[in-house]
Amino acid sequence: MQTRTLGSTGPAVSALGLGAMGMSGAYGAADREESTATVHAALEAGVTLIDTADFYAMGHNELLLAEALRGRDRDSYRLSVKFGMLRGPGPEFGGHDSRPEAVKNFLAYSLTRLGTDHIDIYRPARLDPAVPIEETVGAVKEMIDAGYVRHLGLSEVDAATIRRAHSVHPVADLQIEYSLLRAVEAEILTAYGVLSRGLISGHWSADHTAGPGDSRAFSPRFSSGNVEHNLALVEALHRVAEAKGCTVAQLAVAWVAAQGKDIVPLVGARTRERLAEALPAMELNLTEDDLAEIEKAVPPGAARGDRYPSAFMSSLGVGN
Ligand SMILES: NC(=O)c1ccc[n+]([C@@H]2O[C@H](COP(=O)([O-])OP(=O)(O)OC[C@H]3O[C@@H](n4cnc5c(N)ncnc54)[C@H](OP(=O)(O)O)[C@@H]3O)[C@@H](O)[C@H]2O)c1
Repeated sequence: MQTRTLGSTGPAVSALGLGAMGMSGAYGAADREESTATVHAALEAGVTLIDTADFYAMGHNELLLAEALRGRDRDSYRLSVKFGMLRGPGPEFGGHDSRPEAVKNFLAYSLTRLGTDHIDIYRPARLDPAVPIEETVGAVKEMIDAGYVRHLGLSEVDAATIRRAHSVHPVADLQIEYSLLRAVEAEILTAYGVLSRGLISGHWSADHTAGPGDSRAFSPRFSSGNVEHNLALVEALHRVAEAKGCTVAQLAVAWVAAQGKDIVPLVGARTRERLAEALPAMELNLTEDDLAEIEKAVPPGAARGDRYPSAFMSSLGVGN
């Protein structure tokens, strides 16, 4: 596994990261044993970046990772943790809280749940409109100075916010959704949703319905009318993949990785089978011709439907 360095001050991490969100029900039920085995398989394959959030099933995801990582050398992997999104006892989201005192409170709970004395990259999941970013990252800087956090990250913010945060403390990376269905002009990314939540993985079909608890049931890109259009793009991608001798998912991951040496795709695999499919993407050598073919199959702006339901779109620093 190759490595990539996050920002000028960030850590070196594997060129492909593992996102653990799906292991806590974001895409419907997940199997705990299989999730653990997937984390182990990722580590064995050389993946050193694992992404989570305290609000993924209210701490469930952190506890799962603590169990899966127990006994491993703490320096052999990097934990990226998001905070600040408020939940309720049901499925609801309750906005954001990124006040300095909330940052320290979230961190204390995360460290305890993860069973670790530090988090490698700590980031507000979204910009809290009520709190200047300088105050939020100022609290993260304090926690870095105290040794509880190693690096500052951001998620789904615009360039002006990155610059303001950076003036307080160097930003290691921006985590943002980035796939063939959507392009961003930014550097030092960890890119999530590289398979557009499975839509462009080659494993989704128009008659596939999202089961109970699966967030894709509310995703405009998966809604009836849009999904058929988007799957036609996947069909075009499939023809390119076939010619290249790889799968659609591999092509989609490799395309993101090819957009810059400072981009680290995160894949949301929750089973060993999906992980095993994603890993060879990092060995795929995409030529200029391949990239042109891929972009012809899925031109910029070709996707139909926003990437989040309308209630969530306003919290994004960059649009759809
Ligand atoms: N910063 C943020 O706001 C934010 C938001 C969302 C996620 N994230 C992070 O980014 C990570 C990845 O995002 P994501 O899960 O939304 O995106 P993703 O990787 O685009 O999608 C994951 C979905 O694709 C399916 N899939 C199909 N083939 C696959 C393959 N070969 N490899 C991996 N998955 C395959 C997955 O498995 P199944 O087929 O099993 O369903 C899952 O449903 C998350 O786990 C989370 O840590 C960050």
